[in-house]
Amino acid sequence: MKGIIFTEFLGLVERQWDGDMVDDIIEACDLASGGAYTAVGTYDHREIVALVGELSERSEVPVPDLLQIYGEHLFGTLAKSYPHFVAKSGNLLDFLEGVESYIHVEVRKLYPDAELPSFETKRVEPRVLEMIYRSSRHLDDVCHGLIKGAIVHFDTEALVEREPIDDGTRFVIRCQ
Ligand code: HEM
Repeated sequence: MKGIIFTEFLGLVERQWDGDMVDDIIEACDLASGGAYTAVGTYDHREIVALVGELSERSEVPVPDLLQIYGEHLFGTLAKSYPHFVAKSGNLLDFLEGVESYIHVEVRKLYPDAELPSFETKRVEPRVLEMIYRSSRHLDDVCHGLIKGAIVHFDTEALVEREPIDDGTRFVIRCQ
């Protein structure tokens, strides 16, 4: 998993808690990387799961909540780092439809070793999009947070439903 995912997470922990919390969770996790991440490096995705688990224990915020908050925050960072990917779409649902067919395709060109999920999308109605998320990393909560981040970014009133399916998670995004 790319280092930006880690550096953003630790930045969020530092802002919401403090630098001591960052040092404490890194130390407690005994990570192969030692917690020294660079934006362009690649690290084991289980390290983020371990860090979030440790933060959850210390902060008493449930892991799924932390992952969602993190995903929402991450969207803002990605949108700032790659403004042209977001600018191409005029609205929320067109944008979300393009994550699989455009954005992650471009990401893969930039970082051939990126570990990306797959999405299957269906426009159920003009203002309703179904997105099926599949990934061996099972970061459903991060995905949910990213969708929420996109909703905020596009300043759209929308509801997100979610249900587990056999091999992934089905999200339904309904614009109001
Ligand atoms: C500007 C928009 C976006 C950019 C530039 C972007 C880019 C990236 C990058 C660089 C990664 C990390 C790959 C790695 O660590 O190897 C990633 C992972 C991921 N992206 Fe995106 N992404 C964007 C929008 C979205 C949106 C809107 C969603 C959800 C609908 C999404 C879902 C995910 C998920 C869930 C992962 C974690 C990996 C996994 O689940 O297997 N992304 N993306």
